[in-house]
Amino acid sequence: MPNFHGSDDEPKNWKSQWDILEYLDATLKPGMKSLETGCGYSSVVAASSGADHTTVTPSIDETERVKKFCDEAGINRENLSFDIGPSYAVLAKGGSELDLVYIDGAHGFPHPCVDWMHTEARLTVGGTLLVDDIRIPTCRMLHDFLLEEKNWKLERLIGDTSIFTKTGLTQNNADWMGQGANASYPDFSFLPAHSRAAKKSRHLAERTLATLGLTKPVKRLLGIK
Ligand SMILES: C[S@@+](CC[C@H](N)C(=O)[O-])C[C@H]1O[C@@H](n2cnc3c(N)ncnc32)[C@H](O)[C@@H]1O
Repeated sequence: MPNFHGSDDEPKNWKSQWDILEYLDATLKPGMKSLETGCGYSSVVAASSGADHTTVTPSIDETERVKKFCDEAGINRENLSFDIGPSYAVLAKGGSELDLVYIDGAHGFPHPCVDWMHTEARLTVGGTLLVDDIRIPTCRMLHDFLLEEKNWKLERLIGDTSIFTKTGLTQNNADWMGQGANASYPDFSFLPAHSRAAKKSRHLAERTLATLGLTKPVKRLLGIK
């Protein structure tokens, strides 16, 4: 099996799960536009599918190994392109619409979320998003966030990769109140247990007064400015 990762002295194999490679093979078709963060076996599968596929990786070595492998295996890679650099920089440039995005690049926080941030608006409604390695807590954060959003639907899990469909137009991500992940606001769980209940009651009382337009009169009554 080829090693696409690591250095020539210390080769590594960080291959996606076989079932994911099979999923990509079955899903990607000529005419589709797809993008992945990270490079390797999934790039070879994307090349052989004939989809118009972009691989984003900071490693030129990986891309050279993938090209060499494809050429030696007789896999046509004319629709496979590489965008070299860390994904947070490459993807910030934007680009055309996508039918499928596979997030499997840098796994530390906040990279999976940044990959999503820069690609989600490019994904068409009905398009597919794969979040790899959700057994890693920093990848799982993205998975958990999407579970709560109304324009994303979890279709299935393959091992520790989640596969979502974008079911509606991109939401305004600056609107934190509109995000399902913030439905439990105010969340005082960062406080010691004994002070949580008091904080929450005070918050509810203040909100009720504000809703009734009584904040100012009550403050006047209590002599608070
Ligand atoms: C788990 S491997 C990807 C495996 C690949 N999907 C496969 O099937 O072989 C992670 C990849 O992320 C790449 N990577 C590391 N940092 C990155 C970054 N900042 N942006 C994009 N890719 C990055 C690595 O070079 C590596 O190709």
